[in-house]
Amino acid sequence: MCGIVGYIGKQKASSIMLEGLKRLEYRGYDSAGLAVLQNDGVTVIKKIGRVDNLSAHAAKQKLSGHVGISHTRWATHGGVTDANAHPHVSSDGKIVLVHNGVIENYVAIKKFLLTKGYDFESETDTEVLCNLIAYHYAKEPENGEGTRLLDSVRKTLSHVEGTYGIAVVCTERPDEMVAARKGSPLILGVGDHEHIIASDVSAIISRTQNVVYLKDGELVHIAKGGFTISTLDLTDVSPVIDTVTWSVDDAELGDHDHYMLKEIFEQPAALENAMRGRFSADGSTANFGGLNLTAADFRQIDRFVFTSCGTGWHACLVAEHLIERYARIPVEVDYASEFRYRNAPLDRDALFFVISQSGETIDTLAALREAKRKGYKCMAICNVVGSTIARESDGGIYQHAGPEIGVASTKAFTSQLMISAMFALYVARMRDMSFADGVDYVNALKQVPAKVTRILQQADAIADIARRYAKYNDFLFLGRLSLFPIALEGALKLKEISYIHAEGYPAAEMKHGPIALISEECPSVFLVPKGELFNKVVSSMQEIKARKGRIIAIILEGCELPEGLADDVITIPDCHDAALPILATVPVQLLSYHIAVARGCDVDKPRNLAKSVTVE
Ligand code: G6P
Repeated sequence: MCGIVGYIGKQKASSIMLEGLKRLEYRGYDSAGLAVLQNDGVTVIKKIGRVDNLSAHAAKQKLSGHVGISHTRWATHGGVTDANAHPHVSSDGKIVLVHNGVIENYVAIKKFLLTKGYDFESETDTEVLCNLIAYHYAKEPENGEGTRLLDSVRKTLSHVEGTYGIAVVCTERPDEMVAARKGSPLILGVGDHEHIIASDVSAIISRTQNVVYLKDGELVHIAKGGFTISTLDLTDVSPVIDTVTWSVDDAELGDHDHYMLKEIFEQPAALENAMRGRFSADGSTANFGGLNLTAADFRQIDRFVFTSCGTGWHACLVAEHLIERYARIPVEVDYASEFRYRNAPLDRDALFFVISQSGETIDTLAALREAKRKGYKCMAICNVVGSTIARESDGGIYQHAGPEIGVASTKAFTSQLMISAMFALYVARMRDMSFADGVDYVNALKQVPAKVTRILQQADAIADIARRYAKYNDFLFLGRLSLFPIALEGALKLKEISYIHAEGYPAAEMKHGPIALISEECPSVFLVPKGELFNKVVSSMQEIKARKGRIIAIILEGCELPEGLADDVITIPDCHDAALPILATVPVQLLSYHIAVARGCDVDKPRNLAKSVTVE
């Protein structure tokens, strides 16, 4: 969602904030703004459009102050206008605020503030919050301890329902900043004589790798070169300073045209990292230190429930297939947003899993909290270390895929598939899978990064195919069993970044409806398995061909399609079934990417989307 960067230190706040905003732009990008405290007042610049537009306007002003807050917006309350962009300034001109999240009782608070003489220039819930802080600040006496701003923010937040990550400054207190969170991620970077508040680490890693991950209900007060953390109910918190393991280079574009392409090419390394140190010494199973469950605990589990959103939900479907196939344990998959509200009956001995790249998606977090409330043990598969979901789960598996900046998930998805395959092996080896089959499985997974590299070597050929198909406005993606979720993922990627209508279907289901769409103008991408279903999928392809549909087939090396059946063929290396979804994903990523580029789309920042959705 929206991104926050706040700076307090010795450098020019505007330059550091603009750099941070640029790195956070993938979180939301309909407008951007900054405020710098200077000359006993505040300079605020906010503009619709991208951060570059804000930078151009900022360059025209003299912004020398060392304290400031800034924001990139993804609109929730109020349209995309300069006035609705953040920061917001209270009507008495003293309090300046940036906010992520949603204040649910803002209408009632606004009514109250109108009776107290506060004015509003925007339609946002944030301006209401800002004026409520100003109201409490005006009533709060100076207390000699320098906590007047902190106390007013704390009082304000005790009256607020909803979610927030906020950073607040005050024109009367030019050396202070207060930040707080509930339901929206916020971190504090602790640098050399400087502090940076941000909604994720990518905004701060060029300045420091020392971070404090704030928890829900915590406030941080930065003043006199130091900081303190306390809770809404006035308990002091001893800060834990973590070290970010990735560097600024990991989040740079390098020679690639887009982050998405860079991240597609980083998949061999991300897959290696998902496996690193996680196979047993005898090479027959996987180990996961972070699950905090013994083999005996696992023997008690009679069902897994996997939930997630978006691309992660497709990873859940692959996990379902692999666990049921290899470990013979039932798996239920649910959208996190549905699970939360449908009050699903769960088996007594179910183990709950969530999958989230960012670890901040609010629907997934809410599902995790709901399952925990019901007393279930909850595991998380997350990429972002220290994220809220990672911290609130009872155990989990970190992906170690490195930062993913492109809004359309690529390397995080295949890394989730690898972890799912390893987890299926882990539980299968506790049940019926033999030592020899375990060794074969492990060896097959170890070959995956090299096989992905071989597919990436075909990138130019796949780009040629993509350019020939870029003119079509409807696509079908068809697969079976573990390739059905990859068909869904292929369709989602294409929709997200090229705005082409695409649907993923089980190949055999195509004849029960989607076949009505088939014409020369609606191509199909077939993910063709080997083995017993090969001929069945070939029959589905014949049905398409008979109706003049164009076909791109993704097939395994060694499989032969009838002459002329597919218009274009992309081959992937032969592999173990557990690795098949990973390998089949790479061509659909490249197809979607190159189709979007050919159509002139902004691949890394598709319209209306945000990388991490922290509002319901
Ligand atoms: C957003 C993104 C999707 C992503 C989903 C879940 O909708 O646009 O690409 O798959 O959130 O994100 P998460 O970080 O929880 O995996």
